Amino acid sequence: ANDTPASRQPQTATYDSAFLRACRREPVPYTPVWFMRQAGRSLPEYRKVREGIPMLESCMRPELVAEITLQPVRRHDVDAAIYFSDIVVPLKAIGIDLDIKPGVGPVVEQPVRTRADLRRLRDLTPEDVSYVTEAVGLLVRELGPTPLIGFAGAPFTLASYLIEGGPSRTYENTKAMMYGDPELWADLLDRLSDITAAFLKVQIEAGASAVQLFDSWAGALSPADYRRSVLPASAKVFRAVAGYGVPRIHFGVGTGELLGLMGEAGADVVGVDWRVPLDEAARRVGPGKALQGNLDPAALFAPRRALEAKAREVLDAGAKLEGHVFNLGHGVMPNTDPDALTRLVEYVHTQTAR
Ligand code: CP3
Repeated sequence: ANDTPASRQPQTATYDSAFLRACRREPVPYTPVWFMRQAGRSLPEYRKVREGIPMLESCMRPELVAEITLQPVRRHDVDAAIYFSDIVVPLKAIGIDLDIKPGVGPVVEQPVRTRADLRRLRDLTPEDVSYVTEAVGLLVRELGPTPLIGFAGAPFTLASYLIEGGPSRTYENTKAMMYGDPELWADLLDRLSDITAAFLKVQIEAGASAVQLFDSWAGALSPADYRRSVLPASAKVFRAVAGYGVPRIHFGVGTGELLGLMGEAGADVVGVDWRVPLDEAARRVGPGKALQGNLDPAALFAPRRALEAKAREVLDAGAKLEGHVFNLGHGVMPNTDPDALTRLVEYVHTQTAR
């Protein structure tokens, strides 16, 4: 048996990909690019295969997951695929009664607010998500040299959906628990870190070559609150998968003040939204980590010249980094013209070819 992780095995198909090289801060033939939410409503072929199939159900059909994951790779020539799923899938898999409502997002029938509610959060086993193992297996075979990124929601962002019962702008119930009952809060986040770590392990063991932890809503927190109440749980997730040696990406929105701490939590690559230029982000994160980002997703709605000028700014800042993975500062918006995405990939590749 060879238990060296795939991403560190020079003989594996994905090892020398520009994406994994950039994550490892090695020289690259061109700047790799992928987009958060690259698989989704911006693609007509996605809307077609999803017709009549609810979001969560589509995440549980391995062949459909593989098809949707591959769509943006075929169309845009991006340098990595991201596994098609959602951050609430592992919670659904352990029996939490939730749904993803179109145009709204995840909605939890009975919010988690008390110590008794914690008992509903049991451990996740690989058998709970056998469809993930199957879909990743299909994908790794199809993708060949193109790496597959696995992902999960971070404990804070998952907790916000569980406690609020759905999307929130203010996180009032979440923060009420965090400030008012720190012990219950810590136990809830610890439960979620185990579930999240187990879900990432399933994806890595099935063949994912990198993982991204989405703490999308962590930007709602002050650095002191993040450090005290959130970082320990996210750090536990990163530690749990450290032994595999696959690059670990850590992303959130509005996290300018948290970038250093998000690196400290244990990431190899820190994702940056469009509010902080990448060279400034690098100062905040410190040495020894690659950065991912950070074009404003709204720039894709501007005329081509203006879009390219914005992309140029990102590339110029990225050229000063130890490792740069080009991405948007948040997900592709559903009304984005897919041709603009394809042209952007080509622009990044040709402008950075060495
Ligand atoms: O990036 C990819 O291409 C992979 C797919 C992916 C989805 N969700 C598919 C999805 C990923 C990585 C996610 C993660 C996710 N889900 C996050 C973190 C990333 C981020 O955007 O910050 C969050 C916060 C969620 C929760 C969630 N799920 C939201 C806010 C929504 C959007 C609600 C809406 O309809 O506008 C979802 C639903 C969802 N997840 C869709 C997709 C393609 C849309 C559902 C559909 O197509 O019917």
